[in-house]
Amino acid sequence: MPQVFHPPLVLVLKLVALALLLIAGAGWITLYMVLPPRGGPVDPRQPIPFSHQHHVGDDGIDCRYCHWSVEKSAYAGIPSAQVCLTCHSQLFSDAPVLEPLRESARTGRPIRWVRVHELPDFVFFDHSIHVAKGVGCVECHGRVDKMPRIHRVASLEMQWCLECHRRMARMRGLDERRMTDCSTCHR
Ligand code: HEC
Ligand code: HEC
Ligand code: HEC
Ligand code: HEC
Ligand code: HEC
Repeated sequence: MPQVFHPPLVLVLKLVALALLLIAGAGWITLYMVLPPRGGPVDPRQPIPFSHQHHVGDDGIDCRYCHWSVEKSAYAGIPSAQVCLTCHSQLFSDAPVLEPLRESARTGRPIRWVRVHELPDFVFFDHSIHVAKGVGCVECHGRVDKMPRIHRVASLEMQWCLECHRRMARMRGLDERRMTDCSTCHR
């Protein structure tokens, strides 16, 4: 029976296989180092890989510095490029990852952040009511200060709202009927 491969060819094939293994290994290690630490899924849809962990956890910037309407309105809001540029017109001002910031400042078009939390239109929700009554961001959004990429921790289902409303009514002696009445959240 004739040999399928000649011995020198076998050696070459072995070397190629070894090289491929090494490349795959190096690639894996590189990916591991480049990707942000675990604790939240990477969200490749966001135009800038913004880290709450760095800005809030490490640098101590208050939530309200960026989500400034949260105490006054229904919406917490997403900061404009101008807010970021207060610091980043000096700091990392040429970094390629920050190009969407510079583009937004040039064109006046807002950055297209992908929504992580979104209630259907038929639900009425208001941030300021909750914040004014002492419900902290952490109760609904979790430890954002530890999230390299923001992710949703609450289901945002009706049952989730109702559970807290019932608990609060009992704890704070509120009118449970009003807190669970359909028209409170469906107006
Ligand atoms: C009050 C100052 C300040 C503001 C405002 C600010 N940053 Fe930063 N940013 C920093 C500092 C400081 C670092 C270095 C972070 C670190 O290593 O702790 C940084 C780092 C970054 C990085 C590099 C990757 C990282 O997370 O380390 C990106 C991207 C970034 N910021 C995006 C933004 C965006 C987008 C905004 C607006 C939503 C913003 N920053 C607003 C101070 C700021
Ligand atoms: C330096 C600015 C900055 C600060 C400080 C900051 N955020 Fe944000 N936040 C952003 C930006 C930009 C986004 C949109 C990009 C993203 O989703 O990561 C965002 C998104 C979010 C979202 C998700 C919005 C959605 O799409 O549903 C939540 C929730 C949130 N932030 C909560 C917080 C809380 C809580 C704090 C304080 C503990 C905080 N943020 C501090 C800039 C900031
Ligand atoms: C009682 C629960 C609750 C509390 C407390 C709360 N949030 Fe939210 N947050 C939500 C819900 C629900 C949404 C989705 C709202 C929607 O889709 O209309 C949301 C959405 C957001 C968004 C996306 C933009 C927007 O306005 O819809 C940001 C940013 C945010 N929250 C930041 C904060 C910050 C900062 C705090 C604390 C100061 C906070 N939230 C406190 C439940 C809460
Ligand atoms: C972690 C607890 C908590 C969660 C979760 C929560 N709420 Fe509330 N909610 C409160 C508290 C506390 C009040 C203020 C009650 C008071 O003192 O009047 C309130 C008040 C409200 C009010 C005003 C009620 C009124 O007429 O006075 C609305 C509307 C509301 N919540 C909607 C929602 C919706 C919609 C959700 C879910 C998407 C939700 N809430 C989730 C705690 C919560
Ligand atoms: C505390 C706030 C709150 C109250 C009170 C409330 N709902 Fe809801 N409701 C929600 C939220 C939030 C959703 C959206 C759930 C989702 O997207 O999964 C919802 C969704 C719904 C839906 C759509 C189907 C579904 O389950 O997703 C119906 C129907 C509904 N509610 C009916 C009612 C009725 C009837 C009452 C009174 C008995 C009521 N709701 C009271 C917050 C509330």
